[in-house]
Amino acid sequence: MSGINYSEKIPNNVNLSEDRTLQRALEHWQPNYLQWWQDMGPDGSQNFDVYLRTAVSVDPQGWAQFGHVKMPDYRWGIFLNPAEQDRKIHFGDHMGEAAWQDVPGEHRANLRRIIVTQGDTEPASVEQQRHLGLTAPSQYDLRNLFQVNVEEGRHLWAMVYLLHKYFGKDGREEAEGLLERNSGNADNPRILQAFNEKTPDWLSFFMFTYFTDRDGKFQLCALAESAFDPLARTTKFMLTEEAHHMFVGESVVSRTIQRTVDVMNQLKTDDVAKLRAAGVIDLPTIQRYINFHFSVTIELFGADQSSNAATFYSSGLKGRYEEGKRTDDHVLKGNSYKILSVEDGKLVEKEVPMLNALNEVLRDDYITDSKGGIDRWNRVIEKAGIQFKLTAPHKAFHRNIGTLSGAKITPDGHVVSEAEWNAKVGEWLPSNEDRAYVASLMGRCVEPGKFANWIAPPVMGINRQPVDFDYVRFN
Ligand SMILES: [Fe+2]
Ligand SMILES: [Fe+2]
Repeated sequence: MSGINYSEKIPNNVNLSEDRTLQRALEHWQPNYLQWWQDMGPDGSQNFDVYLRTAVSVDPQGWAQFGHVKMPDYRWGIFLNPAEQDRKIHFGDHMGEAAWQDVPGEHRANLRRIIVTQGDTEPASVEQQRHLGLTAPSQYDLRNLFQVNVEEGRHLWAMVYLLHKYFGKDGREEAEGLLERNSGNADNPRILQAFNEKTPDWLSFFMFTYFTDRDGKFQLCALAESAFDPLARTTKFMLTEEAHHMFVGESVVSRTIQRTVDVMNQLKTDDVAKLRAAGVIDLPTIQRYINFHFSVTIELFGADQSSNAATFYSSGLKGRYEEGKRTDDHVLKGNSYKILSVEDGKLVEKEVPMLNALNEVLRDDYITDSKGGIDRWNRVIEKAGIQFKLTAPHKAFHRNIGTLSGAKITPDGHVVSEAEWNAKVGEWLPSNEDRAYVASLMGRCVEPGKFANWIAPPVMGINRQPVDFDYVRFN
C-alpha cells in the first residue's frame, strides 16, 4: 500500500486503476492542471532541469528520490499515508465511533468547503511566486523555490483527488474552479486574502515560507486529526512534504541575517544607510518584514470567535493541533478560553466558550511554534556579538478580522490613537522605501556556488551534494 505505482499516467498508491470512472475523471483534469502549470507556474523555467526530489514511497525511509527533472515532467500524483486499522474518531460528539471512510451526508457541505479552501491555497502560492526565479540569489535557492512549487502543486493534487473521489459532480466542478481562480485576479481571486498578495522579492518569499507555510502546517495538522479518514491520511503525507518548506523558510532568513551581521562586524556599524550602501538588509528592515508577515499570516486562522470552528470540531471534521497528545476530554463543552478585546482604550482578556474560540487556540499554538524560529535567528545575531533582538509582534498588532479588527495596537501591545499609529507605522511595517530597497537588491545570481551579496551561503548542499553543485541546468 505504501509503495507508489509510477507505471500509470497518474502515479498513485490508492489503486486508482481499480476505479475506472475516477481514473478517467482525473486523467481528464490532468491536462488542465499541466496547462495551468505552463500558464501560471514558474516563469520561463519550463525547460530547466531541476534537481528535485520525488516521492517513491510514503514510508519515512523511502521518501524521496533525487534527480534532474524538467518541472512539467515532475510526476505529480496521489499519495496517502497507509490506513490505520480500526481508526476511531478521537474528539467531538462522535468520539469513539469508527472513522468515516466516506463523507456523511450531513457534513458534506462543510467538508467540501474545508477541502476547497485548503486546496485553493496550494496553487495560489505557486502563482504568487512565479516571477521569483528571474531574480534568484543562487542556484541552490532557485532549486529550493522550485521544489516548494512542485510540492504545492502536488498538494493541489491531494485535494483534487478527495474532491473527485468523494464529492461527485460538485467535486469535479470545484476541482476545475481551483485552476480557474488566480492569485490577485480582480474578477476571480483566490479565496483567502493573504494568497492574493504579491510575493515581490526573495525576502518576502523567505518570510512567506517561514510564516505562511507554517500556517499551512497547522491547518494540515488540524485536518490530519479529521474523522474523515481519507482527509486525515492525505494531509499526513502532505505534512512530510511541508517539513522541507519549513526548513527553507527558517534557514534562508537565518542566512540573510548571517550576511547582515557579518557586514555589520566588518564595517563596525549598525548605521542603516551604511549597511544599505554595502548592499545588505539591515536588521530593523528584517524586523518590519517579520511584523508584516506575522500579522498577515495569523489572520489566516480566522475570527477569534467562530461558530463554524465549533461545528467543525464537534462534528469531527477538524481537530486541534496535536489533538491526540492532549489530555482533556476532547469534547470541550463547558470549557472556556481567553481571547483579547479592546475596552476603554486597553487590551483586556475575556473568557469565551472554548468551542467557539478554536481558531484562537490554533492561532496561539501557531504563535508558540513560530517564535521558536525567531529565537534561533536571534542566536545568529548573538553569536556575532551584536546587540539586537528580533521579536514577534503582539498578536493584536495590525489585525483586520475578528474582535481586534481595526484596533490600533503597537507591536508591543499598546493601544494607540489613529494619529499615533499613522506617525509610527513606518517604524513597524515595511515602508515603500524599504520595499524599494529590498527590490533593488534582487538580481539574478545563478552561477554554481555563487551567492547574491545580501545572503550567506548555506552550510550544506541538498541531499549531501556540494553547495556549488549544478542544482539547476538552464539548457
Ligand atoms: Fe502546501
Ligand atoms: Fe508548503
